Amino acid sequence: MKGLILSGGKGTRLRPLTYTRAKQLVPVANKPVLFYGIEAIAEAGIRDIGIIVGDTKNEIMEAVGDGSRWGLTVTYIEQEAPLGLAHAVLTAESYIQDEPFVMYLGDNLILDGIRSLVNDFQNGHANSQILLAHVPNPQQFGVAELVEGRVHRLVEKPAAPKSDLALVGVYMFDKTIFDAAKRIKPSARNELEITDAIQELINMGFVVDPHIVKGWWKDTGKLDDMLEANRMVLDNLENRIEGYVDPNSQLHHKVVVEKGAQIIRSTIRGPSIIGAKTQVIDSYIGPFTSIQHNCLIRRSEIEHSIVLEKASIEDIDSRIEDSLIGRFVEVMKSPVKPRAYRFVLGDRSVVGII
Ligand code: DAU
Repeated sequence: MKGLILSGGKGTRLRPLTYTRAKQLVPVANKPVLFYGIEAIAEAGIRDIGIIVGDTKNEIMEAVGDGSRWGLTVTYIEQEAPLGLAHAVLTAESYIQDEPFVMYLGDNLILDGIRSLVNDFQNGHANSQILLAHVPNPQQFGVAELVEGRVHRLVEKPAAPKSDLALVGVYMFDKTIFDAAKRIKPSARNELEITDAIQELINMGFVVDPHIVKGWWKDTGKLDDMLEANRMVLDNLENRIEGYVDPNSQLHHKVVVEKGAQIIRSTIRGPSIIGAKTQVIDSYIGPFTSIQHNCLIRRSEIEHSIVLEKASIEDIDSRIEDSLIGRFVEVMKSPVKPRAYRFVLGDRSVVGII
């Protein structure tokens, strides 16, 4: 069995961060979302993974490498443009060949992994098995209707969903998916939808079985989802102090301080993670905060937020909350005179001022 991870696409819902970086590399608890998918596939016993890449190919390749760190062989497959998930599958046909495979959307995070789905598929006789979850907002997903335990109908982001069962971004397929994907037409958003290809499998008389997710999962495509994912992963954190914590600082609950990080005269209330070589000085870091490596937090307070590498936050009087702060961002107090806000904001930045 092979794995196919989709890590192309545009990431429009996480702008401005995704203007300069792949959405699959935005970190959750200081680890790129994509790595959770890779680890889930490896944990299910699969050793060969193909990764679909697009415009952000170079940084994905740099981050993942050859896969040996997970004991995997990784093959990169270039998709000419993000023309849809079924288009990505067709692009991977010569890599997959006749083998069954698990397809995993690179921006999804499934806390309990995918071992039981993979086992279920291997032990059953279905041509495809899809991961489904009950959600409160099915209009935002592919939606499945079940009849007598089998998948009967699938619709991509329906205005009036017939059920609350959303397609989670993990799918099992055998080679029949390639014929089905070749038979469908682009959707209203001009993509070859995997949802339509699976519907086509059903129309062709093949068997599609559901596998309902019991644990927590998230499509991390939007800010709120990213913060929630960060919260869930941090909640499972174990204490680990590898950096320096001075005697005037206090750590409460589960906190990770990575190598070379320094915590000086500060309070950190976990679950939180402070990345390597980050300095936290005279500050308060509240629960559910991930600060990546080489950041500086000085005389400031921040909680329930994600701060990316090499960002700095200095002398901010009010607490920062629910924020996603990009790489190399500087948040600081303006010089005293003239008293004014001074911004250098990229396209689609969002600033909340009190
Ligand atoms: O998250 C689950 C949902 O994922 C499902 O419920 C939907 O049925 C399914 O269509 C998909 O919807 P999204 O609109 O969220 O898909 P998105 O465009 O975000 O793409 C998912 C991943 O696949 C993302 O990591 C980018 C990558 N991708 C996407 C496209 C369109 C590719 O690699 N190539 C592509 O052509």
